[in-house]
Amino acid sequence: MLIRNIKLPNNILFAPMSGVSDAPYRKIVKKFNPGLVFSEMIASRALIHKNKKTLRMVKKNNNEILAIQIAGCEPDVMYDAAKVCEDQGADIIDINMGCPVKKIVNGYAGSALMKDEDLALKIIDSVCKATKIPVTLKMRTGWDDNNKNAPKIAKIAESLGISLITVHGRTRCQMFKGKADWAFIKKVKQEVKIPVIANGDVESFKDVQDILRISRADGLMIGRGSYGKPWIFEEIQTMLSDKPYKTPNISIIRDIINEHHQLCLEHYGIDVGLKSFRKHLCWYSKSLRNSNSFRQEINKTLDHRKITSLINTFFED
Ligand SMILES: Cc1cc2nc3c(=O)[nH]c(=O)nc-3n(C[C@H](O)[C@H](O)[C@H](O)COP(=O)(O)O)c2cc1C
Repeated sequence: MLIRNIKLPNNILFAPMSGVSDAPYRKIVKKFNPGLVFSEMIASRALIHKNKKTLRMVKKNNNEILAIQIAGCEPDVMYDAAKVCEDQGADIIDINMGCPVKKIVNGYAGSALMKDEDLALKIIDSVCKATKIPVTLKMRTGWDDNNKNAPKIAKIAESLGISLITVHGRTRCQMFKGKADWAFIKKVKQEVKIPVIANGDVESFKDVQDILRISRADGLMIGRGSYGKPWIFEEIQTMLSDKPYKTPNISIIRDIINEHHQLCLEHYGIDVGLKSFRKHLCWYSKSLRNSNSFRQEINKTLDHRKITSLINTFFED
């Protein structure tokens, strides 16, 4: 798949997720060859102030094609933020028009932009004009069931220079409830010539087949389905080429977890790194025997050496 001049290795994308798609986890996911990875959403105002914490969020891993996602509601600030991302080495800039969280929506950013089409289009225009690299857009189907305007916004966004559109098949008012509406994504696909990526609730190979068939999208994006199993990207591609997939064995999984732990400690420092890594550790251990008591143990300690030892014991061959 092509995003303007950037050729992606495949069409299975890893979603932007605050608190999850940071540089350490993207490095782990990258081992399993996703088509493209996105940063966590970054506030445009924070970007232009270039503080240490924000710059850490735009840090690009080696050999990574990275889409940095920006959020905001002021066209001029989004313009400047896009320039900062380009300077920091982003390959693509993604505009967030899907975040449903109150704090973001109350500031008229994220999915609130879908309620104010004029402002949404000004922002798209501004970001596209700010940078030479491709700009993509991620949105929901609309604000609520009576206002599903994703196809209309997509068409105008394409004319303003957007190179790819991702649609999470829920309205803002649904938040994460109910099922993603994969059929509605087809209406967006019918409006534009640029690639459309379908997103929402893909957890299995059957979901992959269904979402592609129903939405007619050019590719798909996985977020929560990668929790504790970054190999899902490799699994899907293997199965799409009609080959059986063998899940990594426990010693490989243990190595992945240990590496992920180290990366978090290096990226954030020990205290923050450990806290950030714990949720992943809970996901890695989910559904394994005795995982409840393992989780209780890891949540009791702030000693990273103890965590390593607990990992090595729990994920024993
Ligand atoms: C913890 C969490 C954080 C998220 N953060 C972002 C974000 O920063 N930017 C964004 O566009 N979407 C964000 N999303 C939405 C996901 O990118 C995705 O659209 C949504 O989870 C549906 O896909 P899934 O069912 O594959 O998870 C987030 C979702 C979750 C669960």
